[in-house]
Amino acid sequence: MRFSPVIPGFAHMVHGGDYNPDQWMDLNIWKEDMRIAKAMGINSLSVGIFSWAALEPEEGKFEFGWLDTIMDMMAAQGMKAVLATPSGARPAWLSQKYPEVLRVRDDGRRNLHGGRHNHCLTSPVYREMVQKINTQLAERYKDHPALGAWHISNEYGGECFCPACQEKFRAWLKNKYKTLDALNHAWWTAFWSHTYTDWSQIEAPSSIGETSVHAQKLDWKRFTTDQFIDFYRVETEPLKAITPNVPCTTNLMGTYPGIDYFRLAKELDFASWDNYPQWTGRTEDDVPLAAEIAFRHDLMRGVKGRPFFLMESCPSATNWRPYARLHRPGVHILQSLQAVGHGADSVQYFQFRKSRGSSEKLHGAVVDHVGHEHTRVNGEIAEVGRILSKLDGVVGQDTPARAAILYDWENAWALNDAQGLNNRDKKYFDTVMDHYRALWSLGIQVDVVNEDSDLSKYDLLVAPMLYMVRSGLGERVRAFVEKGGTLVSTFGSGYVDENDLCYLGGFPGPLKETLGIWCEEIDVLLPGESNEILYHGQRYRLFDYAEQLHLQGARSLAEYRREFYAGNPALTVNELGKGRAYFVAGRLEDSFMRAFYTDLADETGLEKHELPYGCSIALRGDEKEMYAFLLNFAAEGCKVEISGQDALTGEKLECVELPGHGSKVLKLR
Ligand code: GLA
Ligand code: ZN
Repeated sequence: MRFSPVIPGFAHMVHGGDYNPDQWMDLNIWKEDMRIAKAMGINSLSVGIFSWAALEPEEGKFEFGWLDTIMDMMAAQGMKAVLATPSGARPAWLSQKYPEVLRVRDDGRRNLHGGRHNHCLTSPVYREMVQKINTQLAERYKDHPALGAWHISNEYGGECFCPACQEKFRAWLKNKYKTLDALNHAWWTAFWSHTYTDWSQIEAPSSIGETSVHAQKLDWKRFTTDQFIDFYRVETEPLKAITPNVPCTTNLMGTYPGIDYFRLAKELDFASWDNYPQWTGRTEDDVPLAAEIAFRHDLMRGVKGRPFFLMESCPSATNWRPYARLHRPGVHILQSLQAVGHGADSVQYFQFRKSRGSSEKLHGAVVDHVGHEHTRVNGEIAEVGRILSKLDGVVGQDTPARAAILYDWENAWALNDAQGLNNRDKKYFDTVMDHYRALWSLGIQVDVVNEDSDLSKYDLLVAPMLYMVRSGLGERVRAFVEKGGTLVSTFGSGYVDENDLCYLGGFPGPLKETLGIWCEEIDVLLPGESNEILYHGQRYRLFDYAEQLHLQGARSLAEYRREFYAGNPALTVNELGKGRAYFVAGRLEDSFMRAFYTDLADETGLEKHELPYGCSIALRGDEKEMYAFLLNFAAEGCKVEISGQDALTGEKLECVELPGHGSKVLKLR
C-alpha cells in the first residue's frame, strides 16, 4: 500500500528544518541561507515556530513583511514551507496585559513570563489571541506557492492547574461519570474517606493535595490529553476553514509520557516527531539505543498508521544532552536513513542557522557560526540531501509488518503509578524493549499498536506488561488467537480495568482463559539477583519479576530452577482455536528472547533476516516495489548476504559490505 505524499503534489523526500530568520533580520544573511540550503539539497524550511513577537509586535499590529520575503525566497527555489503557528511562546506584551494566560503550577503558584510552553490551555484570552494570529497567517499565505504544511505550535506538553483548568476538569468528570456515585465507585473513594459529596470538592491531583486516588490521577492525565486535543482544534479551526487542503501536524516527542499520542494523532493529518538520540559511537551503547530509536520511529508511524515526518533531528552535537558529543563519521547519514527506513518521509533538523545568543547558541545546526558550508558536518548533510533526492520511490511507502507490539499510554500511566511490584522502576519500557530488540535483531518488521488498534491484520501480537486491560480488549485478543494469531503476553498483565480497579477472580483478568493460566502472586527480584530457566536444553537468566502461575489448560515450556518456586512454570503456551498464546513469566535475558522469537518466527512463518550484531534492516514497500534500509550501528564493519539493486547507483549486489556506522538503501524489487 502506497500513501499519497504528505504535502499534496510534492512527491519527494522532504529535507530541511527549523529556520528562525527573525533572529537575523538581514537580507544578506537570508540570501546566504538560501544559497547554502540549495547546496545542501534542502527543499523545505519550517518557519515561524517562535515568531509571535516578530509577527505581532503590539496587540493587533501585524508585521508580515519579513515573512513575505522569506516565503517568496523559498518559492523562488521551489522549496516548501512548513509554516508554524506561533503559540509555543508568547510575546512579553501578551503576558503583561493578560497575566491569566500564564500557566499555574500544581501548588497553585502562577508562573512568571518567560521560557516557552508556558501558557494555560483553557484561557479564553489565549485561545482568542491564537485564533487571531492563526487566521492572519492563513489569510496571508493561503495562495502562496511555498505553503506546504502547517506546524501547529511546538512540542505540546506540560499541565496547567489554574482555577479555570480545574473547573474544566470538573466539567469533564461530570460529563464522563454523570453522577457522583459513579465517580466515587470508579475512583474507589471509600478508601481513606475520600468520598466526594459535591463536584466542587474535586481538585486536580497535586503534590500538595491528592496523590493516592489512582483513578483520579489517571483521569487527570486523560483530561490533559483532551485539553491538548481541544486546543489543537482551536488552533486549526481557522486553518482548516481557510486552507482546507494544507495538512496539519504538531511535532510529537516519541514516548513523551504526558499525552496519549494515539488519541492526539487522530486529530492530525500526519504525525511528526523530534528525535535526539545520544549516540556515543561505541557499539555497546549505540546498538541498544538504535533499537530504542527504531521502536520510537515505529511508534510514531503507528499512532497514525502511515508515513510520518522526522520534524527535528540534530546533524551534530545536541547541546542539552549531558554530553554534547559529536556524531562520529557516518552517524548523521545513518540516523537519517534509519528514520526513513522506519517510515519517515522527511529528514528535518533543528536548526538551520545556529542562534547567536541564548540557550540554543551551541546546538548543532546546518549553518554554523562560521557562516559557510565548508565543514565536516555539512559534508554529511549534503550527502543526506543527495541520497534523499534519489528516494522519490520510497515516498508514501508503508512498512510490511505482520508483527505488532502493543505500547499503551494509559497502561504506562496506571502501571507506573501503582504502588507495588518494583517501586524503583516498573520497567515497562524496558520490558517492551526486550521484546522489540529481539524482533529488531532478527530483521522482523514491527508495527506499534495500542489497546484500541485493529489487531486483525497481524500474525503475531506481543503485549508486554499489559497491566491495564480495558473493557473489550480481552475478547478481541481472544478472537485474534482463535482465528490463528500468536499472542505473547508477560508477567504484570491483566491486573486492573480502565478505572484502575483490580480484576477480581484471578489475574491476568480477561486474559486468563486465552492464556490458560491463573497467576496467583508475583515475586520481585532484588537488583543483581537472578533466577534461571532451561529452554531447549539451554540455561537462561531471569531478572526483576517472577510471576507464580497455575496451568489451567496451558502447557509449561520451561520452569524456574531456583528459589522456593523452583519447578513452577516460567514459560507457557496455550493452544486456542487455530492460534497460540504464550506467557513469559519473568524478564529474560536477550539471548533467550532471540531464541524464543526465532522459534516463533519459524512457527508463524514471519520473514526474518540473518544480520550481524548491530546491523538492522528496515523495509518499505508493497507487492510492486520494495526497499531495504541496511543500517550498521556497530563501530565495526559488517557483511550482509542480500541481493538487490543499490537504490542510488543501480548496481546489482548479492552481498552488502558496510563499514562501521555505514548504511545502504537497496531496491529488492
Ligand atoms: C526541541 C524543540 C526545538 C529545539 C530543540 C533542541 O525539540 O522543539 O525548538 O529547542 O528541542 O534540541
Ligand atoms: Zn489553566
